[in-house]
Amino acid sequence: MDYLRIQGPSRLSGTIDIEGAKNAALPALAASLLTEEPLDLLRLPNVRDIATMRKLLSHLGVDSDECEDGVRLMPAGVSQVDDAPYELVKTMRASVLVLGPLLARLGHARVSLPGGCAIGVRPIDQHLAGLEALGASVLLEHGYVTVTARKLQGARFRFSLPTVTGTENLLMAACLARGTTVLENCAREPEIRDLADLLSKMGARIRGAGGNRIEIEGVDRLGSARHTVLADRIETGTYLLAGALTQGDVTVQGVEPADLASLLEKLGECGCHVDASESEIRVAPGGVLRARDVVTAPHPGFPTDLQAQYVALMTQADGSSTICETVFENRFQHVPELRRMGADIEVDGSFARVHGRSALSAARVMATDLRASASLVLAALVAQGETTIERIYHLDRGYARMEKKLQTLGARVERVSASS
Ligand code: EPU
Repeated sequence: MDYLRIQGPSRLSGTIDIEGAKNAALPALAASLLTEEPLDLLRLPNVRDIATMRKLLSHLGVDSDECEDGVRLMPAGVSQVDDAPYELVKTMRASVLVLGPLLARLGHARVSLPGGCAIGVRPIDQHLAGLEALGASVLLEHGYVTVTARKLQGARFRFSLPTVTGTENLLMAACLARGTTVLENCAREPEIRDLADLLSKMGARIRGAGGNRIEIEGVDRLGSARHTVLADRIETGTYLLAGALTQGDVTVQGVEPADLASLLEKLGECGCHVDASESEIRVAPGGVLRARDVVTAPHPGFPTDLQAQYVALMTQADGSSTICETVFENRFQHVPELRRMGADIEVDGSFARVHGRSALSAARVMATDLRASASLVLAALVAQGETTIERIYHLDRGYARMEKKLQTLGARVERVSASS
């Protein structure tokens, strides 16, 4: 297993490019199951979750090839296999995104139930209730969910809570349903808007994606399309937080600042100097870093996927802050590792109280999930000495070439391969 070696402290400075969003690319790949024609997806991030989804799609009959500036998916072979096996789903919950498209296209799908994960229980009851509302029958058996419907029927469905992949699954299924579907209390993450843009290019009729009510008029078939995946706002936020934490001067380019308004506002409150133009954001020191509370919430609230990195920032702020995690019930696993580096943090249920400013010191730490890993990387950048971060396969699920990008910004970081 590879690990990272980071020598701190350092002050980041420079400009980096941001990748396409992992969480937009995953549903975009799953959307290939809805058509028989080729789909060209550009700006897919080179991360492990994307490789896993391509492997799953290949199992389902979608071939994919690198094309000039992206990946061409050729779904002509989708017809026989309808199952997403445990071996793949257990490594990536987002595999559940094939459920809606497979059902809509083939009339049946069998997907391993994802079960619990490092950050919480994460059921898929809302995905299933929505598909049932469109006329599917659902059977849970032997750890798998099987959904069947001769032809999905448009319907009105209200999510009991906003779910990102749940909204995406229903959105994709409804595109090929007979009649009109109205989805209410939808998640409003920008990745859903991006998926709707792709589906519209394929010929779907969708109104309101990105808002909490989406209306979809079903069509008989979807065709080919070429689509560039939107910028990764979580990768963007991670590097901005790294810049703020190291009192550095970091510019990220190829981004959509409006999708990160809650973070930019918070960085401003903390005393950072933030400059956003059409497709660039720069963070620079604005004086003393102030402690500010955060409550995570569905978009447009503060993203849960940036909470761990924000906790790292607060260890270096002047004063104490309370971080409330409202989206997932077990998302403070970075805290024990941060404490081993000298952070002063108490956790009580869904609250973490961070007392700044702590002098962090390097340690050997272990990543537990994707964003927790990023938080440890950030902490290591300001810790005195050499930190090693193990189990970085978590990091590789969602960050492309992280050590290279950090090196570009002046960090002293290297990846050590298990074989070396
Ligand atoms: N929930 C239910 N029932 C459902 C679906 C969700 O109770 O049927 C609950 C979840 O347990 C959670 C809350 O609703 O408490 C929100 O979960 P959501 O379904 O929105 O999460 P998700 O779709 O599984 C996506 C991202 C996550 C991100 C969350 C929240 C993808 C592939 N994943 O997950 O990304 O944290 O939305 O924004 O889009 C990450 O990239 O590190 C990551 C975990």
